Amino acid sequence: MSSLLDLAPVVPVVVIDDVGTAVPMARALVAGGLPVIEVTLRTEAGLESIRRIAAEVEGAVVGAGTVRRPADVEAAVEAGSRFLVSPGSPAALVDAMAESGVPFLPGVATATEVMALFERGLREMKFFPAEQAGGVNYLKALGGPLPEVRFCPTGGIRLATAPSYLALPNVGCVGGTWLTPADALAAGDYAAIEKLAAEAATLR
Ligand code: 3PG
Repeated sequence: MSSLLDLAPVVPVVVIDDVGTAVPMARALVAGGLPVIEVTLRTEAGLESIRRIAAEVEGAVVGAGTVRRPADVEAAVEAGSRFLVSPGSPAALVDAMAESGVPFLPGVATATEVMALFERGLREMKFFPAEQAGGVNYLKALGGPLPEVRFCPTGGIRLATAPSYLALPNVGCVGGTWLTPADALAAGDYAAIEKLAAEAATLR
C-alpha cells in the first residue's frame, strides 16, 4: 500500500470494550470515509476486534495501536493487523516492528527520539502525546532541523484542532479517539460514529 500517512486525513484510534461493537463500528467509520482504523491493544477485546474487522469489514485497513512489547507485534500481525502504532520507540520494539513486514509508526516526542529513528532509516512516526507535548508549534519547530520526517500526531486532537496540524508540511494525517465516543459505542449509535467520520474525512 502507499504510505500509511496518505490513506486518510484522520485515523480513528479506537478503544473497544465489547468485541461485539467492533464490526458495526468499523463499518460506520468506513462508510463515513475513514478506512484506516487503529484498534488499541489496551483492552482485552483489542486483538479479537482486529481479527473480526480484518475478516469482515470490506474496505477497512485495520491496524494495532498501543503496541508496547515485541510480543504485541507478533500477536497483532497474527490477528490480521495491516499496520502497527506505538506510543514510544524503545529499540527492541522498533526491531520487532521492523521485522514484522507491515508498515509501522513508532512514537516520538523529542528531537533526539526522531533522530534515533532517522538514523535507522525511518521517515514516518507518530508524534505523541501531541497536544500535551507542545502541539502544532512544537511540531512545526521539529520540521526546521528534521524536514525529511513526516508525522501522525495523536493525543488530545479533536475535529476543531485537526486542521492546523494537517496544514503543516510534516504532517501526513492525525489520529484521535474523538470519532468513536464511548457513549456512542455503548448505545450502539453507529449513525453518530458515521457522522463524526464523515466530518473528519473532508478535512483535507
Ligand atoms: C493514542 O493512543 O493515540 C491516544 O490515546 C489518543 O487519544 P486521544 O485522541 O483521546 O487523546
